[in-house]
Amino acid sequence: MGLPYSEKVIEYFKNPKNVGKIDDPDGKAQEGSPACGDMVKVYIKVDQETQTITDVKFESYGCASNIATGSIITEMAKGKTVEEAKKITWEDAADELGGLPPIKAHCSVLAIDGLRSAIRDYEERHGLVKEKEPTTPEVVEKRLKRVMNPMTGLDVIRTDLIHDISVEEGVVDIHVDLTEDHQFANAIKEDIKEKIEPMWDVEKVVVHFVE
Ligand code: FES
Repeated sequence: MGLPYSEKVIEYFKNPKNVGKIDDPDGKAQEGSPACGDMVKVYIKVDQETQTITDVKFESYGCASNIATGSIITEMAKGKTVEEAKKITWEDAADELGGLPPIKAHCSVLAIDGLRSAIRDYEERHGLVKEKEPTTPEVVEKRLKRVMNPMTGLDVIRTDLIHDISVEEGVVDIHVDLTEDHQFANAIKEDIKEKIEPMWDVEKVVVHFVE
């Protein structure tokens, strides 16, 4: 039986485009899928004058659909302004690929989420965020869904690794249910800081290990 993929999906899976990492990116993001436990990382370079995406690369720990969608959306995003690139949807990507099996829709959603988060990261790091929602524990919790728990491959919220979050005058305190000397403690702490520190009204992030 042949695989239920379009020829274009198979072609992009065999010869993916824009795979890799950009050293010194202007924006980057990592997204994980709760549906399958896969992960994607997206890196972008942006021309500050024109707000045009000059380079974009991705790394995928996902399936063929994810790799094909990552290839197509990075091709679509290159040369667009950040505002135009934000509007690319997973349906656009799936159409461009000649369709995806419905059960694989989440794989393209994952790739699009990665691109949008990398753009968001770029905007936060460059003071370009327009809708300035105040950072609350709920907002932090949502963002922590992008921090993976390396012990399971799922995020730290879904795996109940976060005990408590408080936000006061720009200081975010996050309590993690692990001992400080746990082999993954430092990696998780770095990942949390990387995701929360760029938020527009956050001045400091303190990670406590409280097992
Ligand atoms: Fe996980 Fe496709 S099944 S990304």
